[in-house]
This record gives sequence, structure tokens and C-alpha cells, in this order.
Amino acid sequence: MNKITIAIDGFSSTGKSTVAKQLAKHLGYIYVDSGAMYRAVTWFAMQNGFINESQFYIQDLISNLKKVSISFKFNINLGFAEVYLNGQNIEKQIRTLEVSRYVSQVAEISEVRELLVKQQQNMGENKGIVMDGRDIGTVVFPDAELKIFMTASANTRAKRRFDELINKGEKVSYSEVLKNVQERDYIDSHREDSPLVKAHDAIEIDNSNLTLQEQFNNILQLVENKLKEF
Ligand code: DC
Repeated sequence: MNKITIAIDGFSSTGKSTVAKQLAKHLGYIYVDSGAMYRAVTWFAMQNGFINESQFYIQDLISNLKKVSISFKFNINLGFAEVYLNGQNIEKQIRTLEVSRYVSQVAEISEVRELLVKQQQNMGENKGIVMDGRDIGTVVFPDAELKIFMTASANTRAKRRFDELINKGEKVSYSEVLKNVQERDYIDSHREDSPLVKAHDAIEIDNSNLTLQEQFNNILQLVENKLKEF
């Protein structure tokens, strides 16, 4: 059967990765969390002292980008691929609120985007891929056969992210999570290079009031309709 490329974009914490993972598993496709790659570069910047609460040494980060090697390895117990930076598993480290605080600033840098977009396009060369992010349907795979744009209210998304962080044992307050979600929404959709916008041919899904199962079924239906065209 022909394989297609599925691009899932949207604001932070809209549940893109949950549905993208489910979909990839169901279809036997590769799943790539492109946000994890921006988070990995952010983690690299933090580890090397290029970014902290008071300073961001952008030029130093740019000139050290050649030392960044990101890979994904499937973890059979978790059922998804974890992200590695220069051979080190950093899946847990990149999910903290601290990384979330800096990641949008790192994702604004054109040199970072250029590097990651190239890698993402290589991963999708043979189709059969579900990738989620902010610019997948607009920049990474503008010819993707199926583009989804997911939305949900900022409060719904902050509540989801807050529950997730608390379950992982992070000590965070709801208000700081909401603030982070709103700040990232703003930066992600106002940056100069590849801002978050809905591709003209993307299908919008507001999942504020959908269960995971309903959302999965809706998207799977779209995939099946698309596959019939080939
Ligand atoms: O999906 P996420 O919340 O893990 O993404 C983290 C950040 O990375 C997000 O705030 C913006 C950036 N990002 C991006 O600019 N382009 C992408 N394709 C994916 C993520």
C-alpha cells in the first residue's frame, strides 16, 4: 500500500504528540517529535552555558551547532522513540519546565531551524512518517498529503501540561505553566522565521472537548480517506 506523509502542527500542549504516536503505531509509520529536537538543542545550550536566566549567548550556540548530533532510538518498553544528544539519552531532561522556558528562544534562531529542518526532511524521504511540530505542513513537508492543525484553549492546554508535569514529580504551579504556554504561543506565532501558522490546506481540529479516542478516530478517518485517493 502507498505510504503518505502526515504533518501535525499546532500550539504547545494541544496533544499533537499523543495522537501522532498512536497514529504512527496504528499505521506502522515512523513517528518524529520535531519539538524534541528543538528541546535537545536547548538542553545542549543550557549544558554548555550558552543560555541561562540572565544571558543568551546566541553566537556561541550558533558556532557550536556542529557539535550537536540528535538521534532517536525506539524504546520497546515505552512504545516510542526517545531522543539522544551525542549518544546520551536526554528524553527526561528535555521535558522539564526549565527547558520549556528557553526553547522558544532557541527555536527562533534561523541557523538552528535550518539544521533541524534538513534532518527532518531526510527522515521523511521515504514517506510513511507522522511528524508533529509547528512548521511541518508549511516548511518541512509543504507537500504532505495530510496536514492537521490542532488547537485547544490555552487553559485546557495548560491544565494538561500541568497534570503531566505533576505526574512526573515536578514542583510547578498551574499559573507558571499557563504563563509558559501563553508566552510560547506568542513567540512561536510571532517569530520571523517559520512562525506557527496554519497551512492553507491543513484541516483544523479543536480538541478542547474531544476524548483521545474521538480525536484518534477523527484523524484516522481522514488518513483512510486520503489513502483511498492513491
Ligand atoms: O512541541 P514542543 O512543545 O515540545 O516544542 C517545543 C518548542 O519547539 C516550541 O515552543 C516551539 C519549537 N518548535 C518549533 O519551533 N518548530 C517545530 N517544528 C517544533 C517545535
